[in-house]
Amino acid sequence: MDHFLYRDGALHAEDVPIAHIAEAVGTPFYIYSTATLLRHYRLFDEALAGTDHLVCYAMKAASNQAILKTLAQAGAGMDVVSGGEYLRAKAAGVPGDKIVFSGVGKTAEEIRTALTGGIRQFNVESEPEMEVINAVALELGVIAPITVRVNPDVDAKTHAKIATGKSENKFGIPIARAPQVYAHAASLPGLKVVGIDVHIGSQLTDLEPFRLAYSKVAELTEQLRAQGHDIRRLDLGGGLGIPYARSNEAPPLPVEYGAMIKETLGHLGCEIEIEPGRLIAGNAGLMVSKVIYVKSGEGRDFLILDGAMNDLIRPAMYDAYHDIVPVIEPAPGVEQRPYDIVGPVCETGDTFAKQRNMPPLRPGDLVAFRSAGAYGAVMASEYNTRPLIPEVLVNGDQFAVIRERPTFDEIINRDTIPEWL
Ligand code: LLP
Repeated sequence: MDHFLYRDGALHAEDVPIAHIAEAVGTPFYIYSTATLLRHYRLFDEALAGTDHLVCYAMKAASNQAILKTLAQAGAGMDVVSGGEYLRAKAAGVPGDKIVFSGVGKTAEEIRTALTGGIRQFNVESEPEMEVINAVALELGVIAPITVRVNPDVDAKTHAKIATGKSENKFGIPIARAPQVYAHAASLPGLKVVGIDVHIGSQLTDLEPFRLAYSKVAELTEQLRAQGHDIRRLDLGGGLGIPYARSNEAPPLPVEYGAMIKETLGHLGCEIEIEPGRLIAGNAGLMVSKVIYVKSGEGRDFLILDGAMNDLIRPAMYDAYHDIVPVIEPAPGVEQRPYDIVGPVCETGDTFAKQRNMPPLRPGDLVAFRSAGAYGAVMASEYNTRPLIPEVLVNGDQFAVIRERPTFDEIINRDTIPEWL
């Protein structure tokens, strides 16, 4: 459920008509709903009620400071994957002991930043990385809390580019090697082992791969405890999928996910951490764009929008489906017709949808891409010198621009000319 609904024939974000925002900020832009962000965070928090837990929002999904602050004020921890994300979490007011640091290639500099500012734990991805964390901790005279990310070799049954839990993927250490790796960790004086980490992929629409992975983690917990390791915390990653095509998708709900976690791991008495990104932000955001031209081609019509692949790359990169809806509600029974919906960038890949049925649209009409709140703005670029599009946050009847559109001068002046030119 989200808070983007038609009211009196016009699409609203909470209580604000989207056309008003378009007038104020110009198109294209991203818009987020505070109520939806908070609702999704709370669904996870409530799903784990009764167990000691922390929901660490995976900010890679959408990392605007205003979004982070909204979630942090509700009590969320954060999952970060770079020094930059760590600093974003701190800037949004998240205390170090609610920040977990994931990612396959943490540099000594990033590790130093986190150890200096305070960190709940590093999710270690390899033995060489473990040694660097140990060395930096010793140099700073602190102890670094760690978990080791294990790769359980399960098929997440999701898009190949976002599956992470198979043995051929670059993530984590093979679960079979965990006993040796934990013994190694225990021998390093700058580290304190606090638990186990696992993350098998993103946009999972079935609980079974999670159940399989978490059962393996349960077994490993008992095995490592028997070997004397103090396993008190399990970080279960993110990955729960969202419905992109509303008409025919119903992925498991957070409450079902939470029940499965309690079932597979509840007996161990561990503190549970989860790192959801997409489910919190995905359906809390839209990208709004304007039709520039309607072009008749050979046997097909193109809707040419002012938004493009550089603004929302998921269709070009993952063949992802996004619902695209007109901002003015079509009259009931109006005849739909198929369009290829494209952006103006000079690549054939700049195609959002092919032969998508839409009500008749004209130049100047606004359309909204649903489910664009996660991995939308954060993956945007300025390809074709198209400015990064603004982000807007709505809260009830208020809205605020939370990131401005840069001017062309700002973009051009970021470059510097060598003195010989
Ligand atoms: N934790 C770790 C260690 C991760 O690598 C990820 C996502 C998450 C948590 C959050 O997963 P989520 O709950 O959002 O599924 N750009 C792609 C998705 C990449 C996901 C990368 N890792 C897309 O647009 O579909």
